Amino acid sequence: MHDNHRAAEVLVNVAAGSDDEISTAIDAIGFPAAAHYLLGELTERCNQVTVPTRTAVHLSVGWTTRNHDHGFVFDDKGMTAAAGTPEDPQVRIEIPVADLTRLLLAPERLRGTAQWRHRMLPEFPELATDNGAAALAGKIDPIGCVGKATQAILGGAGETPSLQELAVRYGSDKWGSTHWYTPHYEHHFRPWQEEPVRILEIGIGGYGETEYQGGSLHMWQRYFRRGLVFGVDITEKKVSGPRIRTFQGDQNDPEFLTGLAGEIGPLDIVIDDGSHVSEHILTSFGTLFPLLKPGGLYVIEDLQTSYWGNYGGNARDVDSPLTSVGFLKTLVDGLHHQERVDRSGEPSYTEQHVTGLHFYHNICFVKKGANNECGPDWLRQFGFDPR
Ligand SMILES: C[S@@+](CC[C@H](N)C(=O)[O-])C[C@H]1O[C@@H](n2cnc3c(N)ncnc32)[C@H](O)[C@@H]1O
Repeated sequence: MHDNHRAAEVLVNVAAGSDDEISTAIDAIGFPAAAHYLLGELTERCNQVTVPTRTAVHLSVGWTTRNHDHGFVFDDKGMTAAAGTPEDPQVRIEIPVADLTRLLLAPERLRGTAQWRHRMLPEFPELATDNGAAALAGKIDPIGCVGKATQAILGGAGETPSLQELAVRYGSDKWGSTHWYTPHYEHHFRPWQEEPVRILEIGIGGYGETEYQGGSLHMWQRYFRRGLVFGVDITEKKVSGPRIRTFQGDQNDPEFLTGLAGEIGPLDIVIDDGSHVSEHILTSFGTLFPLLKPGGLYVIEDLQTSYWGNYGGNARDVDSPLTSVGFLKTLVDGLHHQERVDRSGEPSYTEQHVTGLHFYHNICFVKKGANNECGPDWLRQFGFDPR
């Protein structure tokens, strides 16, 4: 398995546990691999602030008798991070690896228990040179810079911004201009936010080699702070993140999708934001919905293409089950299969397992569960024939 994903999965499982439990897990992963993953996570979450003077933070992560040193250097352009002790640090944060694990990966109620030691370094240069006078005169505020840098690292680690903010930050088109999906996602995903979910998105995005890619994968990674994020795209993409893995393949290829789900599943959430061609949407749903965990969610975006001929849609026959919306409408009838007096025989897989459908403008959320609430059969016992 991918090293970062393995480390993330193991550490998420123990992050609510004792120091000993976390230590045993770090032993199993190996301290260098665990530190590599945790620092990648911390860097990813660090808020991108700027400060007027170079401000270097030395982060020392401790485990038994060993340390991992990392530098976060802020200036007027942003932040860069690298392994090793930074040159001329102004502040040192010492944090045991168990506390860093808790801060990043524990459920919300335990995050505040993470302990660290924060010290301004004695060789702090601004106060000992001419800059010190400037600082004291208020032209440069070195203490303010250190505060801002520290907040960016430790504050970023603990907070979870809204999806709307994240869509803008990571350049996903799920909110703004053409689509306004994030409030719907927030509504349906909020109960999962603290869960160690496995989420797969079909369609990574970014159409050019050099263009920024994978905006939504980064958004999901930040939103589901304890989740693993997978992306699939027909073209090769280069998206990296501590809890992101990508695959190349065609959403219209059931064999590929089955193999993928076997490797990365069981999945809690699937989002189809791929080709938006009706046939492809139906193939992916038919393959992946049965492989979704009970209680899972399957989301299909950009349903407007159901009415567009060049995407396999049909504006004249809007109920055609070969179009994405026409097919989804059949699931509404399937939800009520027990009440359908027009049919008999074994219910289909979707009739037995689709338990909810939520339609919004151009997007649908399909919920998976056991659709076996008591139907109208008992009425017949009292001589009522619903036909
Ligand atoms: C709208 S973009 C995805 C945007 C991204 N999900 C976001 O919100 O930032 C659609 C992506 O689907 C990919 N795609 C198109 N046809 C596909 C197929 N048959 N299988 C998998 N991916 C496909 C495209 O290469 C493109 O990157």
